[in-house]
Amino acid sequence: MASFVPLTTTTLVSLVLVIIGATVNGGEARPSSSSRSSTNNRPRAFFVFGDSLVDSGNNNYLATTARADAPPYGIDHPTHRPTGRFSNGLNIPDLISQRLGAESVLPYLSPELRGDKLLIGANFASAGIGILNDTGIQFVNIIRMYRQLEHFEEYQRRVSAIIGAAGAKRLVNQALVLITVGGNDFVNNYYLVPYSVRSQQYPLPQYVPFIISEYRKLLQKLYDLGARRVLVTGTGPLGCVPAELAQRGTNGGCSPELQRAASLYNPQLERMLQELNSKIGKDVFIAANTQEMHLNFITNPQAFGFTTSKVACCGQGPYNGLGLCTPLSNLCPNRDLYAFWDAFHPSEKANKIIVEQIMSGSTRYMNPMNLSTILALDAITT
Ligand SMILES: *[C@@H]1O[C@H](CO)[C@@H](O)[C@H](O)[C@H]1NC(C)=O
Ligand SMILES: *[C@@H]1O[C@H](CO)[C@@H](O)[C@H](O)[C@H]1NC(C)=O
Repeated sequence: MASFVPLTTTTLVSLVLVIIGATVNGGEARPSSSSRSSTNNRPRAFFVFGDSLVDSGNNNYLATTARADAPPYGIDHPTHRPTGRFSNGLNIPDLISQRLGAESVLPYLSPELRGDKLLIGANFASAGIGILNDTGIQFVNIIRMYRQLEHFEEYQRRVSAIIGAAGAKRLVNQALVLITVGGNDFVNNYYLVPYSVRSQQYPLPQYVPFIISEYRKLLQKLYDLGARRVLVTGTGPLGCVPAELAQRGTNGGCSPELQRAASLYNPQLERMLQELNSKIGKDVFIAANTQEMHLNFITNPQAFGFTTSKVACCGQGPYNGLGLCTPLSNLCPNRDLYAFWDAFHPSEKANKIIVEQIMSGSTRYMNPMNLSTILALDAITT
């Protein structure tokens, strides 16, 4: 999400639609025993937590400026309409769902997420959030991590009402989970303004272990709530996104300060996941090295079919990196030629490359193993 969000009339108009998450727990009908026994044939459930990189529309239901519900967002989506995804088309969760042979999981706040749809999974992510509660405060009403986890508990109560407590537990234990969070703790917190509260409190080399230790608590909680296979992405090269090239870049180069942040954060994240796994005694947490995946097409865009990895498709100012992507922004004609859709978020084409690497990348990208290995292993053991 952009660091400085102007309140335009379009965003003001969309603020009128407000549905509070806590009200989404209408009674679920108990299905017949025949639909209950079909539980074993469905694709494994999929749960998504995190920020705008994986939000599929929860913020559409909130009074926040962190939203993607106006054109040209969604221009290449099957519906050709904005959905709340921060992408021209599909996002990473959609593409993972496809690999699971399942339909996309609905945002948790969507009124359509009820009955049997709940058994597919749910997307709890909310644009603008971070590991810390004080990340993204300028976006006001967003669903912070602790609240996403509360929603997950509420979700499990709703599923228990449909397939029973044991069925719900099995569904959650067998599910795949994706969590993408952390970038905003730099962009929309530590580096949001000069002399931010957090940057006065900690020098960068101490801020990073601090947020990693807070992240560890969140992941432990996720495990305690039943998650057993969790893909954890690192941050991309934060200093190389069009927004940072425009605001802090040096002659077209990436922002050294944000690059330093990412290069401290990602290895420490991977180490923390290894420690959690050895404490648990199982490979629950799988690290996806999104920094490395992005760097490939940032350093050599042509090799991946992009004409640029610096200029965003939608935006304005240098690199189309200033402000938001709106109906008035510059818009490129062919989104597949751009690594970045807007100032912060990859294009659908870039998302496809990332998911391909999550699926079959070597241990350089996926640690301790890739998603196709996980799917094969879990198919044998369950
Ligand atoms: C975030 O806020 C929630 C609710 O106020 C609180 O329970 C939680 O401990 C906070 N987390 C941190 C890391 O401060
Ligand atoms: C990743 O996935 C592919 C299958 O798509 C497999 O052949 C390969 O060995 C895997 N790599 C690792 C390191 O697990």
